[in-house]
Amino acid sequence: MKLFIKTFGCQMNQKDSEALLGLLQEEGYFLASSLQGADIVLVNTCSVRQHAENRALSFTASLKNRVKILGIIGCMAKARGEEIAQKMPYVDIICSPAKMVEIPRFLKEAGEGKKTLALEDGARPEEFYHSSFRFEKDRAQVVISTGCSNYCTYCIVPYVRGPLRLRRPQDIISEVKKNIGLGIRRVTLLGQNVNDYHYDGVDFVGLLREIDKLDLEEISFITSHPKNIPSDLFYLMAQSKKIKKYLHLPFQSGSNRILSLMKRGYTKEKYRRIVEDYRKIVRGVLATDVIVGFPTEAEADFLETKEMLEEVKFDFAYIFKYSPRPHTAAFFMKDDVSLDEKKRRHKILLDLQKRISLNIKKEKL
Ligand code: SAH
Ligand code: SF4
Ligand code: F3S
Repeated sequence: MKLFIKTFGCQMNQKDSEALLGLLQEEGYFLASSLQGADIVLVNTCSVRQHAENRALSFTASLKNRVKILGIIGCMAKARGEEIAQKMPYVDIICSPAKMVEIPRFLKEAGEGKKTLALEDGARPEEFYHSSFRFEKDRAQVVISTGCSNYCTYCIVPYVRGPLRLRRPQDIISEVKKNIGLGIRRVTLLGQNVNDYHYDGVDFVGLLREIDKLDLEEISFITSHPKNIPSDLFYLMAQSKKIKKYLHLPFQSGSNRILSLMKRGYTKEKYRRIVEDYRKIVRGVLATDVIVGFPTEAEADFLETKEMLEEVKFDFAYIFKYSPRPHTAAFFMKDDVSLDEKKRRHKILLDLQKRISLNIKKEKL
């Protein structure tokens, strides 16, 4: 039986798929290199926007009656598992991110005709990360924390991934060392907000310092939240020869009123000061995320977001149209910016960012 995992969503999902493939390979499954020829397909899903869910749902529907065992796993399974079980009865396994370590057993049971609906949250056992399977030869991701307890009002992640849970520094370091043993030279540390990391007196900068001592070429990390950037992070980034001079620092909106409704915990003035410090101390690449059309966003709020893009001149900006997500606080606000208006604002920022990125590229030539 050949198995394939199709992954939607963020790098966290990529890493989960990799860890799971490793686990299943150790159980004796053969990994198919593409969808063609796979008897078992697991679809690892994202719920962050409606569009992400739609893509995963139509992909799964297209596999109906085409494979022996079909599973929907990951964030959307957690968010909409019960509903999927009803509407897509041909799906054999529906499994939340926290339960993934049990998928070998669920697959065995699916082979015997038993369906699984495993939606619980909980801490993942360390074994989940122990296999040696890697997608790439010289680069790997290492999870430092799962979940999130920030509860930005638009965001479903805390509900599908659970509250912030931290891996022990020694477990993280031993995984990095294992990677080095496998020939990996570059690692990316993953957390919804890496600044939230703290374990037995080790904070994120302390963890980075430890990893910086190891035999690696490059260390990067995502994502950094502007509300609690540690003051010594930029000095460490400037000093280290290994830490990539790249910061992913989502600002989401340039309007303080909207930032407060989003419960982001910083103002645009504070965001600007962080950027100034970063550029002065690190002189590195800067990337961001922006949401347009959050409930009550008026033209004046939008123009402040546009101004922030014009002023900061990010190397990369990922721009999203607000999508109401169940469970979140903003879901209970009226989604009062029309789709046409969201599309208009989205396009204006995309075009603007395209010009900025192009100019930055030209300046570097
Ligand atoms: N943990 C990361 C973000 C994870 S989600 C952080 O805090 O930065 C990635 C991006 O998706 C977010 O930065 C945000 O810009 C966007 N996003 C999240 N929820 C969204 C929603 N409901 N609608 C539109 N975009 C959203
Ligand atoms: Fe979502 Fe906010 Fe947590 Fe990021 S920090 S995952 S945007 S709740
Ligand atoms: Fe990532 Fe999407 Fe889940 S952004 S954590 S895969 S909801």
